[in-house]
This record gives sequence, C-alpha cells and structure tokens, in this order.
Amino acid sequence: MELRYRAPEGMNDVLPESSYLWCFVEACWRDHCHRYGYGEIRTPILETAALFERSVGETSDIVSKEMYVLERGEERYALKPEGTAPVARAYIEHGLHASGSVQKLYYITPFFRGERPQKGRYRQAHQFGAELFGTAHPLADAELLAMVMAFFAQLGIPEHALELRLNTIGCPNCRPAYRNAVYQFGQRNFSRLCKNCQSRLERNPLRILDCKECTATTMNAPLIDPYLCSDCRAHFEKVQELLNTLSVRYVRDHRLVRGLDYYTRTTFEVVADQGLGAQNALCGGGRYDGLVEALGGPPTPALGVGIGVERTLLVLHALNVALPSPPRIDAFIVAFSDEARLTGLQLAQQLRTAGVTCDIDLEGRSPKAQMRLANRSGARCAILLGESELATATATVKDLENHEQVAVPQAELTEWIRTRLSCR
Ligand code: HAM
Repeated sequence: MELRYRAPEGMNDVLPESSYLWCFVEACWRDHCHRYGYGEIRTPILETAALFERSVGETSDIVSKEMYVLERGEERYALKPEGTAPVARAYIEHGLHASGSVQKLYYITPFFRGERPQKGRYRQAHQFGAELFGTAHPLADAELLAMVMAFFAQLGIPEHALELRLNTIGCPNCRPAYRNAVYQFGQRNFSRLCKNCQSRLERNPLRILDCKECTATTMNAPLIDPYLCSDCRAHFEKVQELLNTLSVRYVRDHRLVRGLDYYTRTTFEVVADQGLGAQNALCGGGRYDGLVEALGGPPTPALGVGIGVERTLLVLHALNVALPSPPRIDAFIVAFSDEARLTGLQLAQQLRTAGVTCDIDLEGRSPKAQMRLANRSGARCAILLGESELATATATVKDLENHEQVAVPQAELTEWIRTRLSCR
C-alpha cells in the first residue's frame, strides 16, 4: 500500500507499545516535582513569536533558524520552541509574583524546532521542565540540581552513566568584558573558526566556545573566572559548596555557555555517555535572573531546567534499566453463542465499572477464534460463556497460565475476579 500521508519529518507517533513507558516517566516526573513542592503549569502550544524573540533571543539558532512561525491576520505566532519563556509570560500575566514567596512550577510539554532530524533530535520533541521564580539564593540552584539528579536516579539511571556539567556565565555587569575578550580572541583566530562560528562571532561570540567543530581552536580561549564580578564569583562558589554538601557530583565545564540568550550566572547540562550518540545532552538549564523583567514583569531572579523526554527514554533503553512491562488485561470474555455475547457484554460492563480491565470480541468471531484472541491479548484469564453457563447463571473462569478452570456464579464474578487477580 502506498502511503499517502506521513507524519511530518522529525515528528513521531507514539504507539501503545511504547506510550505506556511515556506514561511511566511522566508519572515519575510529576511525583518527583510534587515532592519538591512544585505545582503543574500548562501553557498554550503557541505564543506570540515576539515572546521568543525577546527571551530566547533573535540571533539564537532556535529563533533565527528553527522556529515554526504561523501568521493569522495581524498576529505572528510561534509553536513553542522551548518551555521557559511561556512559563515566565504566564508568571507575569497571572501576577504570581504577588504571592511574595518563591513560585515553583513544573510542566511536561511538546516543543518544536526545525532542526535536521537525527537520533535524539526531532522537530517535535518533549520536555520535562521546572522553573523556580523569586530567589537569587544559591540554595535554589543547589536544590534544583539535586532534584534533577535525583530524578534520573529515581528512574534507575546509575550515577556513573551521567555527568553534570556546571558553569557560570556571569551577569550583565561582568559578562560584557568577558564577551569582548572572547570576541577579540575569535577575531585573532578568525580563519580557524568554522563557517557557522565566523558568522556568529559578531552577534554571539560566546557560542564559539561550545562549538564542537572549533574545540581545537577555542581550547586557548579566555576563561570567564578572572572576569567574574565578586557577586557572581561568590554565588558560584556557594552553589558548588552546596552541591558538595548534598553529595551531587559535577564537573566544571568552562565551555558551557548554552544557546539561549536569557541565561545569567549558573548554567548546566547533564550528558549521558550511552544511548544518545552526538546529541548527548539529556537536559540543560540555568539561571535567568533578568528574563521576567525583560518581559515586562517586576525584577525577579529565576532558574530552571528542561529535560528531553525522548532522550531520557533512549538512555533508559540503552542502559537496559528495568522498566515496567506493558499493561496486561485481566480478562477476555469468550462467548459461545449470540445469546452468550449479550450476557458477555453486560458482564464486561460490570467488570470494567469495578476496575477490572477486560475485553470482548466485537466482530462476531467463532469461539475458537475468540480463544485465539484471548491468548494473544495477554489476558490473565478467559471468561467462558456457553450454553451450560447460561443455564446455570455461571461463568467458567479459565486461568490462561496454568489452564485451571473454575465455575463462578455470574452474580459473584466481579468480586471473585477482583480478589483472585488483585485488580485495582
Ligand atoms: P535546551 O537545552 O534547549 O534548553 O533543551 C533542553 C533539553 O531538551 C535538551 O537537553 C535535550 O534533552 C532536549 N532537546 C532539545 N532539543 C531537542 C530536539 N530537537 N529533539 C529532542 N530533544 C531535544 C531549553 O529548552 C531551556 N528552556 C531549558 C531551561 C528551562 N532553562 C531554564 N529553564
């Protein structure tokens, strides 16, 4: 059969054979965030394009090359290319700062980037995100990083398979001098930079530091430490001290500048040594103390993280982490006559209402074919309804593993199955 329509390139369908694992990791993320005092926020799938231009940055790759922009009337919208700006917008719009205390918001969201698809890199992907507003204290940085690493541990990813890379990129007071030093370095080494870095040197010189192609050239680029102002230095030292207190392992990565313009001070990524190939960042984040104000809100220090859902699943599979099995149904009803089908349908309804997962043939198949379906469905038992069962108002429950059979009065069937199969 020739396929007339396909999913757009780089965008994936998630079928039942894997969607139950998505549900599992999503439930873990929700549970984990609740433990740390976060509440869920859901924002629209699209926002005005200007929101991302102002926050992620007009010259960033995400906005300038990868954003899906839709025009409707006078409005320009963009499918969200990331989750932080929409949450900051909602924080301001709903006056969440008025509570006067720290706001902790988490989300699970699709996002869209028109990148070249490859393993671990898609055009529609999903993120687990957490954003914390209202404190500049290094305690918040440490708690967020500890929460992220504990999430991966909770999923069963061993500590040695991951590396937390940590950096600081200073603040608007101290970064300009550093930026200029990197720019001057880039100018001196211009011919040795890749084409992409040559073109972004003027706009965004710090990005030459995290370009893999230019590593040999930028190895001797100036480091930020001598340029940090005393507040940024003290903040970064305290974050590291607190991580040590919490036994969160990290490595300092001087190159970690991140590709979104809103960051200040702490930046971080967690990379995995297996499962992701070239796209080895499992998550990324940092502080963005100026973003809320830049979007029209009150000055509000903040920080957050975005974790790739697809990449998390790739790592779990690559490391053979024990994961839940696909859900099995409890019972499959096999009817031997049309009359029995009606009884079967009623029983199925009763069982489902009581929380038993069960299925029944909907195509009028022969008893033999129904039995095959029952076996293929993975059900734990088959409920057989023939003439003698109808005559005695019973059902024969057949254990599909040990093949034992027992007659149960129909009136007691639900309770019997619930107890035997310890259904919910
Ligand atoms: P990001 O580093 O652009 O940060 O994305 C976060 C994570 O999303 C990445 O580490 C990666 O796991 C995943 N990811 C990114 N692009 C793709 C893609 N094309 N396909 C599959 N997975 C991808 C942000 O988006 C920031 N909003 C994170 C943040 C939250 N910073 C502060 N708060």
